[in-house]
Amino acid sequence: MKHIAVIMDGNGRWAVKRGRERSVGYRFGARALMRLAEDFLSFPISTLTVYAFSTENNKRDSKEVSNIFSVIASFLLSEVFPFCQKNGVALRFIGNLDALPDDLKQIVESNPAVSGEKTLVIAINYGGSDEILRAYEKMKEKGIVRPTEKDLYDNLDTAGLPMPDAVLRYGGYKRLSNFLPLQTIYSELFFIDKLWPDYDRSDIEKVISDFSDIKRNFGGNNA
Ligand code: IPE
Ligand code: IPE
Ligand code: MG
Repeated sequence: MKHIAVIMDGNGRWAVKRGRERSVGYRFGARALMRLAEDFLSFPISTLTVYAFSTENNKRDSKEVSNIFSVIASFLLSEVFPFCQKNGVALRFIGNLDALPDDLKQIVESNPAVSGEKTLVIAINYGGSDEILRAYEKMKEKGIVRPTEKDLYDNLDTAGLPMPDAVLRYGGYKRLSNFLPLQTIYSELFFIDKLWPDYDRSDIEKVISDFSDIKRNFGGNNA
């Protein structure tokens, strides 16, 4: 197993359950992400992808959207960038980054280029259908008229990353919400019946252990 992808859902409900504003849930969700990032250092995987904001999340009211972006911006600067630099973790962003508000876009572009054995991938303003359309445009610009499957995967935002072996969704729903549709075609799906701010290391330890018992066929013989 190389790559785990996590859908960090349930932040708003976590806060509302405690009689707090939804935005409080985003701050606690960001703290949970930093716990996961620390745990990632000792998990036997090379790649961790987290879903922070979807293209469809732009449908929410503008106050909530700007709250979420400001939590992301401040956490990148105060926590994520220093974490990656301190621990030699490469950081990559996927999603429609050009469409982000200027201040957040500048922060994303100031990603300190750290190289390391592990890669943290943050999906911001990411939508699988949007990614496929952008891949199509990229291929057109490169003059690729009859793309192979390899051309398609090479032009997705995730080019060069391993496919996720496992996807974990927090928050109670059993759906992917436009997350990595082409990359998860053979992923094992795990639904964690907890709200994201309640993330605990044992959630992933259990997934890693359960995963080791699964026989993966990728469509081949089930010998
Ligand atoms: C998911 O949390 C993270 C983002 C969309 C930023 P939600 O905001 O969807 O929280 P719930 O699902 O409403 O509780
Ligand atoms: C998925 O959660 C997106 C992220 C966690 C960033 P949503 O809350 O947007 O998903 P839906 O709308 O319930 O499917
Ligand atoms: Mg949600």
